[in-house]
Amino acid sequence: VAGVRDRRTFVVTGGTGAIGGATATGLVRQGQRVVLVAHDERRLTEARRALAPGPEADRVQTVPCDLARPESVRAAAATLRSGSPTLGGLVPCAAVFVRTRRETPEGFELMFATNHLGTLLLTRELLPRLSAGAPSRVITVSAPSTTPLDFTDLQSSRGFSPLRAFGATKTANLLFAYELARRSEGTGVTSNVFFPGVVRSKLMREAPAIVRGFAGLAGRGPEPAGSALAWLALDPSLDDVSGKFYKLRTPGESAPYSRDPAVQRELWETSEMLLAR
Ligand SMILES: NC(=O)c1ccc[n+]([C@@H]2O[C@H](COP(=O)([O-])OP(=O)(O)OC[C@H]3O[C@@H](n4cnc5c(N)ncnc54)[C@H](OP(=O)(O)O)[C@@H]3O)[C@@H](O)[C@H]2O)c1
Repeated sequence: VAGVRDRRTFVVTGGTGAIGGATATGLVRQGQRVVLVAHDERRLTEARRALAPGPEADRVQTVPCDLARPESVRAAAATLRSGSPTLGGLVPCAAVFVRTRRETPEGFELMFATNHLGTLLLTRELLPRLSAGAPSRVITVSAPSTTPLDFTDLQSSRGFSPLRAFGATKTANLLFAYELARRSEGTGVTSNVFFPGVVRSKLMREAPAIVRGFAGLAGRGPEPAGSALAWLALDPSLDDVSGKFYKLRTPGESAPYSRDPAVQRELWETSEMLLAR
């Protein structure tokens, strides 16, 4: 367990969910300070209470944020910046899956807005605090998705397929994390991808029965993912490791498409344009 001098602050989005909650538990157990970011305020209060029932309560904070809404993300980032002059890390772990196409008031498809755009915006807004806390780490939770992006229809307005649109957001997470690694070279901020394996959670509750059935049978509890993520966030041997893909604690690879720097750059620049509208 870290001494007070090693105590740093980690922001965990989706901190009320299965994997985010287990990650926060892992970090708090290692003596760290954690800020849980999620949408539902009641669940945030419950998660904080469950995580820190005793003296560690002052090490767990919550910041409500709707990642699907840029204004909410900017406001949450301002709160996070004012509460923490330096950050040890950011774990983008929030995600949503919906069966039907839903559009945010800004005109973004809900999964793209939440899983990708909100993550990119929050990270960008927190980068000065991450640099100030360097060596610091961004660990994006994703999957080895092979779904390519359709840059002519990022908002899935033509022939919406929920699994395809969701898969594209998981590819977007990979492209984002690798691009961030390149953009952060030399700043002491690293960026890696974490794949937790199949974990039982409510994320795919609107998915077709076959997907839910598979996740129910193959899925494990979130604890191994949470402790592996905490290791990835804290282990000193990983200070200089960036742009890598991990399945739990094991380095792995994602699809060649996600490794294409031209696609990574195109997604980042297009996303910046969408957020600037
Ligand atoms: N489970 C798996 O097998 C698996 C496999 C590979 C990758 N992953 C990835 O792991 C991550 C976590 O998944 P999980 O299985 O732990 O899912 P989960 O239990 O459903 O957690 C999702 C989290 O995202 C938050 N969230 C959803 N919409 C939000 C919004 N608009 N604004 C802010 N927060 C929002 C939820 O918060 P609220 O309480 O506010 O709803 C919740 O904390 C996801 O990125 C997922 O793609 C999961």
